[in-house]
Amino acid sequence: MKHGHIIEAQQFNKKALQEILGAADHIKERTERNLPLDLLRGKILGNLFYVKSMRTNLSFDSAMKRLGGEVTHIDFPETFSSELAGGNFEDTVRVVGSLVDVIVLRHYRSGSAKRAAEISLVPIINGGDGPAQHPTQALIDLYCIEKLKGGIDGVSIAFIGDLMNSRTIRSLAYFLAKYSGIKIYFASPRVLKIQDDMKEYLAENRIPYSESLDNAEEFKEIVSKADILYITQIPKDRFKNQIDDYDRSKEIFRINQEILKVLKKDTYIMHPFPRDYELSPEVDQDPRAVYFDQIKYGQFLRMGLLCLVLGVPVD
Ligand code: CP
Repeated sequence: MKHGHIIEAQQFNKKALQEILGAADHIKERTERNLPLDLLRGKILGNLFYVKSMRTNLSFDSAMKRLGGEVTHIDFPETFSSELAGGNFEDTVRVVGSLVDVIVLRHYRSGSAKRAAEISLVPIINGGDGPAQHPTQALIDLYCIEKLKGGIDGVSIAFIGDLMNSRTIRSLAYFLAKYSGIKIYFASPRVLKIQDDMKEYLAENRIPYSESLDNAEEFKEIVSKADILYITQIPKDRFKNQIDDYDRSKEIFRINQEILKVLKKDTYIMHPFPRDYELSPEVDQDPRAVYFDQIKYGQFLRMGLLCLVLGVPVD
């Protein structure tokens, strides 16, 4: 199956999601059995990044190379003389698309991936557009949950931290809404609460959720119940009262040794990275800390996804 553009989580139904996770499984199996992986020999990926990225950029780069393909990096194209001299975004996408077989786009503006897909000659993969979406990170997260919990139906997940601006949480919540028996807990500072459109979407899709704001006791109760803790950074610059509000929030929404004591034995801790104070390094040795496994699963997922968008069978 050829998936075409990967723009936002809402474009997929459950069948399409399972096909992507299945492709990742095939790649994982091929890797573990040392079978040939050069499925994309002769293909070129263009990594068109208007914003800094370490993980997404490197992960797609290594995914393409492991499949025998090649990668061209176009970092910060707005600093190139041609864009400064009147070149525009659409022209850049068309030019890059004339030279490569698939584009991964990271941009600071919401909706950029959709705009690129409208005129692109080759598949566009959204590598994160502003605060809107990061569908491939969320696919990785979904795959990680499936592997660790043995399935996605019936899972309860606590989203913690900056819920207002986290594109990975938005994309993952949209994906989870396709599954049955899902329960979502939102826990955040009031200034970073989940946006109303997300809550409306969950309500329309009959996904039960609860919201807890600025509450340390409720936070402990939530983390003791959830199957998955998905935590993100608390950015200091979003707080008006930096001293009191920020300092209080960063102490509440933090996973450390004390919080580990209240978790269930089979609760997993996930983080899209980069991390800051919210995830103490003392948690890293705990078997429930799976954020480095997320990166490993991400490699299989992105390899499978590249094959699917380019119409190359993996099984
Ligand atoms: N997880 C993630 O998107 O990281 P980068 O911003 O480094 O790509």
